[in-house]
Amino acid sequence: MSRKLLIAGNWKMNGLLADGVALAKGVAGEVKALGKTDLEFLVCPPFTLLTSVKKALRGAKVALGAQDCHFAVKGAHTGDISPAMLKDVGCAYVILGHSERRADHKESSELINKKSVAAYEQGLKAIICIGETEAERDAGKTIDVCAKQILGSVPDNATAANTVIAYEPVWAIGTGKTPTSKDVQEVHAAIRKVLAKKLGKGNANKMRILYGGSVKPSNAKEFLSLEDVDGALIGGASLKVEDFLGIAKAVK
Ligand code: 13P
Repeated sequence: MSRKLLIAGNWKMNGLLADGVALAKGVAGEVKALGKTDLEFLVCPPFTLLTSVKKALRGAKVALGAQDCHFAVKGAHTGDISPAMLKDVGCAYVILGHSERRADHKESSELINKKSVAAYEQGLKAIICIGETEAERDAGKTIDVCAKQILGSVPDNATAANTVIAYEPVWAIGTGKTPTSKDVQEVHAAIRKVLAKKLGKGNANKMRILYGGSVKPSNAKEFLSLEDVDGALIGGASLKVEDFLGIAKAVK
């Protein structure tokens, strides 16, 4: 089953206007210079940079995504951004249920499910994040936790075309620590099994499952060559053109 590798940058809460535009221009230039590849590129800047980054990416095969959205199309939700607004400024993707949102904003799987449905309704693809904490891992609960998060967060109408899963062990995010490649393959295969039960084998076999957590140029090949790993969701290393592209070059 060939699934196109997705190299996705999650910029998190980083970048003022000038930094964001410079980073996006740098990525766009390097992706153009790379020429034709089998990779798909995506950057997910903060809301404030979406419009300027979209402009800076013009002419490059790099998609635009956001890091969250509300489930309503519009209305009285102060401080929130709707999927329709994201579509309007040129987003193709939205990251949902990142562990930082689950922790900082107490987002439940049920809420993430609702947001995903709302994203689909606007034609956005959802990148639904799951992953265990260190304590859960130590207790041997990794696969159970991920299965529960998948069953709760992934809508019944999710398909390989509208959804990407990102497996991000919470303890590997921004720490420089990573699971072994054997562990990553095991968890991704287990996730695919859960997806097959929920969405059918056809969707599960085509759906991309990204790995995220301290991915950098030096470990990219190790993870991205695994059978059930279909790309990376990259935090820190996506903030430097050299590192972000270094990851792509390692697997090109
Ligand atoms: P780091 O690559 O900085 O570990 O972050 C991963 C992540 O949370 C991407 O969503």
